Amino acid sequence: MNPASVRITGWGMYAPERILSNADLERVVDTSDEWITSRTGIRERRVAAAHETTATLAAIAGKRAVAVAGLEPDDIDVILVATLTPDYWMPSTGALVKEALGNTRAAAMDVMAACSGFVYAYSVADAYVRSGLYKNALVIGSETLTRFLDFSDRSTCILFGDGAGAVVLSGSDEAGGGMQGLEMTTDPDGAYMIWLPSGGSRSPVSGGTLARGEHYVRMEGRETYRFATKTMATTALKAIERAGWTADEIDLFIPHQANVRIIESVAKGLNLPMDKMFVNLDRYGNTSAASVGIALAEAVDSGRIKIGDKIVLVAFGAGLTSGGIALEWTTDPTCGARAASVEPVASVREPVEWGQVDPIPERLRQILEGEGPPVPLDDVAPGEPEHAHREVLA
Ligand code: ACO
Repeated sequence: MNPASVRITGWGMYAPERILSNADLERVVDTSDEWITSRTGIRERRVAAAHETTATLAAIAGKRAVAVAGLEPDDIDVILVATLTPDYWMPSTGALVKEALGNTRAAAMDVMAACSGFVYAYSVADAYVRSGLYKNALVIGSETLTRFLDFSDRSTCILFGDGAGAVVLSGSDEAGGGMQGLEMTTDPDGAYMIWLPSGGSRSPVSGGTLARGEHYVRMEGRETYRFATKTMATTALKAIERAGWTADEIDLFIPHQANVRIIESVAKGLNLPMDKMFVNLDRYGNTSAASVGIALAEAVDSGRIKIGDKIVLVAFGAGLTSGGIALEWTTDPTCGARAASVEPVASVREPVEWGQVDPIPERLRQILEGEGPPVPLDDVAPGEPEHAHREVLA
């Protein structure tokens, strides 16, 4: 039977303990705290420890969301993990998270839509529950981006961090509340504006791809910025209109935490004051698919959201993708206190007969240990390869 509504009943987040500050990065690339803070708003980001992975981060955030919902792990029917930094290409990170949660019955899978991943995964989960197929869905955004960064490329290594955020969506017999408007876009014109060249079927990992650093994130910062400032406001507005609301009725926006200047331009584009925008990127940087989930959990737990509030989640990312959800908040924010009972530990099954692997890239380890000479700024990441478009057009 279809529920009368689909509501957020649980939320949770987890950020690894280790902080990587702008001052730490000043020591290894030609940058400054002043440049990073004034151009992005980021002051520090978190780095997952060697024993942590995208799945363990996700499992802690997921356990917290399940506890806040007042559910047991086995009450969850489907688990969706949004990530662009999975533990492995296979199995899915969702499968590992399912076991770590202690869930024995859910279907689990990953959703790939880069920084829009949380919004995309939320929309899929909402559709399952709305259709009556499942009652409780767990949506998690989780990333360990610091393992995919070139720490000699100042245009990318200053931006990203690790973390996880989660919500439980549940079918309710009461009408109203939950998602009222959705907008999602995908624009492959910008497919190579933010990309990770090697490791996929187009360019499997080889000595050559490693030597060329093609296993690291590459980005056209200025072009991405332009796309983001255009798309965030229009995507949010479409979601708001589909809900039958106007922008000035929105109590709080939870935007993807990429750059405070992008968030300021969204506020300006919608003619709203910045106090309608939740911002925590100063402490976490850009955590990609995790960012909206982390921000939502922090917004609720810090008293910024109350029952009846109109909230907008909005994100953009590689693809290029964008996604916006206009929703009405229905759950008592004080339920967030239940997350305190969940220890920040998660255990994910290790491969059999596989040697110990240190997942922290060597350059990052040197930074964390305070070692390493400053690296001269060589070329920043190259842009979109011309041939990619030519082949498509031919
Ligand atoms: N420190 C000091 N100088 C720097 C740094 C740095 N860390 N990075 C770049 N610069 C230099 C550039 O080399 C350039 O120098 P030049 O003028 O001599 O060539 C100058 O600063 C200006 O560079 P811009 O790229 O124009 O700087 P901008 O103001 O655009 O800021 C930034 C760069 C922060 C990357 C911005 O463009 C941005 O935020 N873009 C969006 C990125 C983003 O949100 N990505 C998310 C992707 S989401 C996903 O799906 C993963």
